[in-house]
Amino acid sequence: MKNISSLSLKTVIAISLSVFCISANAEVDVDAAKDFAKQNNCLRCHGVDKDKDGPAYTKISAKFKADPKGKEKLLAHLTSGEKAKFADGHEEAHPILKSDDPKATQNLVDWILSL
Ligand code: HEC
Repeated sequence: MKNISSLSLKTVIAISLSVFCISANAEVDVDAAKDFAKQNNCLRCHGVDKDKDGPAYTKISAKFKADPKGKEKLLAHLTSGEKAKFADGHEEAHPILKSDDPKATQNLVDWILSL
């Protein structure tokens, strides 16, 4: 009995580790995402975990992570220049990501949603 239960425990650990590794590598290149955000001045208005003029990325992630359309919504947000409400209450068009590289844009959104 003892052997069986320790074997199944090992199996459970092995499975959870592999699931963890798969989700941990969900192809997010964190350094590239941060560089890309810097190049686009995103970090002027957003801290990773601090609010600036815009909400912290961790807050944005918390809001969109559970939404099956979250990724789509963020991609649309970053490419459409829709109105953004600032902390002081004024509204202006959100800056559009200056990029013709859809992979970098996807990676940035994946990174935000991973926070
Ligand atoms: C001039 C300041 C400013 C800059 C620069 C800026 N943002 Fe924002 N961003 C905001 C504000 C303000 C909001 C809040 C919008 C709202 O809640 O209406 C926001 C919201 C967001 C959201 C959440 C959208 C939502 O629907 O809740 C994301 C994602 C985001 N910004 C990403 C970025 C990225 C990526 C960049 C770089 C291309 C960037 N922002 C540059 C001010 C800025």
